[in-house]
Order: sequence, then C-alpha cells, then structure tokens
Amino acid sequence: MLKLDLSKLSSFLPDGYVAARQTGLEKAASMLANHDGPGGEFTGWVTLPRDYDKDEFARIKKAAEKIRKQSQVLLVVGIGGSYLGARAVIELLASPNYNLKKKDTPELYFAGNGLSTDTLLELISLIGDRDFSVNIISKSGTTTEPAVAFRIFKDMLEKKYGKEGARDRIYATTDKARGALKGLADAEGYETFVVPDDVGGRYSVLTAVGLLPIAAAGIDIDQLMAGAHQAMDELAVGGLDNPAWQYAAARHALYESGKKIELLACYEPPFRFFAEWWKQLFGESEGKDGKGLFPASVEFTADLHSMGQYIQQGERLMFETVVKFAPKGEFIIPEDPANVDGLNFLAGKPLSFVAEQAMRGTILAHVDGGVPNVLIELPTICEATVGYMIYFFEYVCGLSGHLLEVNPFNQPGVEAYKKNMFALLGKPGYETLKADLEARL
Ligand code: PA5
Repeated sequence: MLKLDLSKLSSFLPDGYVAARQTGLEKAASMLANHDGPGGEFTGWVTLPRDYDKDEFARIKKAAEKIRKQSQVLLVVGIGGSYLGARAVIELLASPNYNLKKKDTPELYFAGNGLSTDTLLELISLIGDRDFSVNIISKSGTTTEPAVAFRIFKDMLEKKYGKEGARDRIYATTDKARGALKGLADAEGYETFVVPDDVGGRYSVLTAVGLLPIAAAGIDIDQLMAGAHQAMDELAVGGLDNPAWQYAAARHALYESGKKIELLACYEPPFRFFAEWWKQLFGESEGKDGKGLFPASVEFTADLHSMGQYIQQGERLMFETVVKFAPKGEFIIPEDPANVDGLNFLAGKPLSFVAEQAMRGTILAHVDGGVPNVLIELPTICEATVGYMIYFFEYVCGLSGHLLEVNPFNQPGVEAYKKNMFALLGKPGYETLKADLEARL
C-alpha cells in the first residue's frame, strides 16, 4: 500500500544509518507491542484496528444514521486530539468543500476549538433555524474551550427542542467512567461513546472520537478500519525493510545530524487538515525534555510561491517529507489556438503529468538547496488508504519517540497555559498563582 523512498537522503546521511539504529528500533517496537515502555499505559492504539469495541462501532453507525435523518447540521465540539482527527479525515475524504456539496448527510461544523467570539457568533448564524445535533467530545470533560461551547449549544438545543428533545440530539464522547462530562451525560441521559483509557487524544481518531463525526459525514468507517488493520499487520513485522522502521530511523538520523524541522508537504489541498493532525501527533509526542523535531507543513504547489523561497535558501534547518497520492481522475490540458501563454507544448497532456513533473523538479531543487527529502507514495485517496496512512504515522511516531528517549504518550507541557488561564480567570484554588501572574503582567 505504501512506498517509502529514502534515496534523496543519501547525500545527507552516512550509509547504514538505519542498521545503526536496529537495536533501538527493536526495543521501541517491543515496547509498543508489549505496552511496557514509557507511557505504555497509553498504547491501546497499537492493536485498536483489530481489537476495537465492535458493539460500540455498530452503535456509532446507528447514531450517525439517526443524526443524518434528524438534523441538517452536526456540530462537533472538541479541541486538540478530540477534534483534529475527525476534521482531517472528513476534509481529506469528503473535501474541504463538503458543506457546500449537494448531499444526503448533514453539514458539519467544528466548534469549541478556540475562544473566538466572532467565530462562535458566525457559527450560530450559520445554523440559523435549521435542525441540528451536537457531538461533544472531551476525554477529561473539563477542557475550557469545548466546555464553554457546549454550554452555549446545549442551551440553544434545550430552548429549541425542550429538555427531552435536546437529549435526543446530544452525543457525548468521553471517559467511560470518570469526569465532568461523563457525570453530566449520565445525569441528562445522553447517548455516550467512549474514549478508551489506554488511547491518548492524538491517537484517538480511530475511536468514537473520530468515528462518529466521520460516519455522520457518510464516510465508510469499515473501510477506514480495514486500511488501518492492514497497516497494523504489516508494520508489526519488524526488520530493516519495515517502512515505519526506516522512516523513524531516517527522522532520528536527520535530527541527530542537526535538522530541527520536519516539513510535511502534499500536492493535494484536502490534505491540509491531515497535516494539522500530523503536527499535533508528532509535536505533542516528541516535543519535550528540550528535544524533538518541530513539525511544520506546506501545501504545494501554492506554498512554493510563498514558503518556497525560505525552503530553497533560508536557514538549513529542515528536511521535507512529501506525501504523494495517485490521482483519482484525469483532466487533459486543452489546446489554445492563440497560445498566448506559450503552454501549447502541454496541450493533450494530463494535469497529473504536470503535477508529477512539478513534484520531481521541486524535490531535486530542494535537495540541491540542502533540504533532505523523504517521499511517501500512496494509492488514490480513499477510506482504506487514509486508514493505512493514519496507522503508519501513529506507529512511526511511537517508534520515533522511543528512539528519542522521550515518553511519546504524555503532554505535560499542555498544562502550563491552562493553569495560568484558570488563575487569571479567577478559578477557585488558583489564588496564589493569580496574584503572582498579575504582578508580572
Ligand atoms: O492530545 C491530547 O491529549 C490533547 O490534545 C487533548 O485531546 C485536548 O487537550 C482535549 O482534551 P479533552 O479531550 O480532555 O477535552
């Protein structure tokens, strides 16, 4: 399914850089398989494509069907790992223009992923007087952004449909036993879905966290899981020809050689939110203890006309990982009798041929400019391809974190801003910190 081309690293890394990391990779793969490394209690995602809860999966499909029948709009309320995966998959498979398309599935909007008043007001006016449902997703149930947004939309639902009617339109995805949202959902009688204890937010797209909104958008979640399952089976076979091992080794070797930024590039605009998901996955997993590659992303060819200058000639801090998909259809470039733009030499050629040459030329230019290149080639964008790719990146991320000797499954740094925000907002219990912060502002 996935082809990894590391040939454009040869002028940057010594021969044998993968073999030199064999012991580390064996150890990393064993820690993932046996759930016994740092953060091992959060490695349930490793076998999730096989071991997922089949009863809950059936309930997800039913709920998606009910949402489709009942509502013209589904609001998906969540942030970080409780948001990016669903949006990444929906935009990649159903298009960033999904809401504009003619369809028999509801429009989908994401809320609670920020604190912008303008965005919230716009969302309320976009819903207008249409029927809507809400999927609130929060493992802890206490994250400020989604909790505030949920208050607002719960209140709107209750005013519109009454308490009973609102209950029938609210779906809560949260911890199976603990937390404020679980308590509220039980008290109010909402249908609930589970964020498994052993799966952290950024690894949760293939749980109900991602699957309910994805299914509501009409995407085939069986095929998505099947693609992930294929990746799980293939990547579990360790060895130096395993592409996840090779990519993790290359990333680690490049980091040790002085590269500090990994730039994820793709020539398909619907990939933009997948790159956002990827950035959280790698950034939160590796960026700690003063270590880690900074994950960044670009959309080609658009960004070749903006970031292209820096990539070609700026600080030599980065390497590039290009994700390439086979095109689904074909478009032939027409002949223009006037040939004002001088492009008739392209007439009769498929647009994908032009894109391919743009990619090949760019890779060589960047390599010549001192930017090592990793190329990941995948078949056409479909559910199985996306499922495979999700698991591939998750597995590479787990291996990479262990090679770097960090805990890839915690995120202690995310707490710092939350503590300060709570203190400044006057949350009880934060009085001393509030005084300290205010004296410094
Ligand atoms: O990856 C993570 O753990 C975070 O991005 C969380 O998913 C995010 O902070 C949201 O947390 P919660 O689901 O508890 O509201």
